[in-house]
Amino acid sequence: MTKNRTLGYTSIELFPIGLGAMPLSLEGRPNEKQALDVINTFVNGNGNFIDTANVYCVDDTDVGHNERLVARALTHFDNASNIFIATKGGLTRPKGNWTVDASPAWLRQSCEKSLQDLNTDSIFLYQLHAPDPEVPLTDSIGELAKLKDEGKIQHIGLSNVSVENIELALSISQIISVQNRCNLFERTSFNNGVVEYCENNDITFIAHSPVGGHYQHAQRSDNDLLKNLAEKYNTSAYQIMIAWLLHKSKSIFPIPGASKTSSIKDSIQAVNVELSKDDMQILEEDIK
Ligand SMILES: NC(=O)c1ccc[n+]([C@@H]2O[C@H](COP(=O)([O-])OP(=O)(O)OC[C@H]3O[C@@H](n4cnc5c(N)ncnc54)[C@H](OP(=O)(O)O)[C@@H]3O)[C@@H](O)[C@H]2O)c1
Repeated sequence: MTKNRTLGYTSIELFPIGLGAMPLSLEGRPNEKQALDVINTFVNGNGNFIDTANVYCVDDTDVGHNERLVARALTHFDNASNIFIATKGGLTRPKGNWTVDASPAWLRQSCEKSLQDLNTDSIFLYQLHAPDPEVPLTDSIGELAKLKDEGKIQHIGLSNVSVENIELALSISQIISVQNRCNLFERTSFNNGVVEYCENNDITFIAHSPVGGHYQHAQRSDNDLLKNLAEKYNTSAYQIMIAWLLHKSKSIFPIPGASKTSSIKDSIQAVNVELSKDDMQILEEDIK
């Protein structure tokens, strides 16, 4: 069984796999009962970290959909205070498109709305969704640092960043986590040193899109090598992909998405998959 992950510079222990809540709120989303069942299944399976964002919604008339859903789900749990919620600001959804706005004014406005939508006085983890090429990163992080000083957020995380971005952000504030796209087929964060930098600096590396991503997971899981290993370990191709991330580094924290209870029920079982060194090597070399 894979051990819990310690979150960043804290002593908080996380179940090794988080829930990516995005598929519960995008176009084609499940109805509310199914969405709440997914979150229930995750928490009942010992999960204690949920990743959301203000922009997990269908367009800019619907901003906050995912956060409100997560907040409603939490009302059902006696242990809600032990479930850690991470949200994000810095994007917008005009007509359903994804655009960046990490200006201090927009970050502040977004954070205030997230506080309402999450129904809380203080957001546990607030992540800059992406650096904005039009705004100096130090200005974006500077505003998050002010929100932290005001107690509106407790910890600051980054997303979609390079080592250079992380170093610059650290010159302004403590950073607890970095969330980049990372899976067997997308290894940029291994190749450009981001994962190693996180390991060396007590930063949790949150792997988003860990099973191939919202639009590609079905194609990625339909892979002969993954299917053979899944058969060998009596598990699913999805669990093999998540177990690979868990074995790669103790700093890596995968957050598979799910819109079906069967998906998250399966994904969290990846903590029980002990991949051999030889099979890690095969995955390393033979999956392109
Ligand atoms: N920071 C960023 O810029 C960023 C970008 C993208 C995503 N994210 C975060 O990362 C999370 C995960 O990424 P993602 O949702 O895009 O992609 P993903 O986790 O790679 O794939 C999610 C999809 O894979 C399917 N799936 C997952 N585990 C499965 C299993 N064990 N068995 C069968 N199907 C399974 C689910 O299908 P069903 O829907 O059928 O259940 C789900 O919708 C998101 O939810 C979001 O929180 C962040």
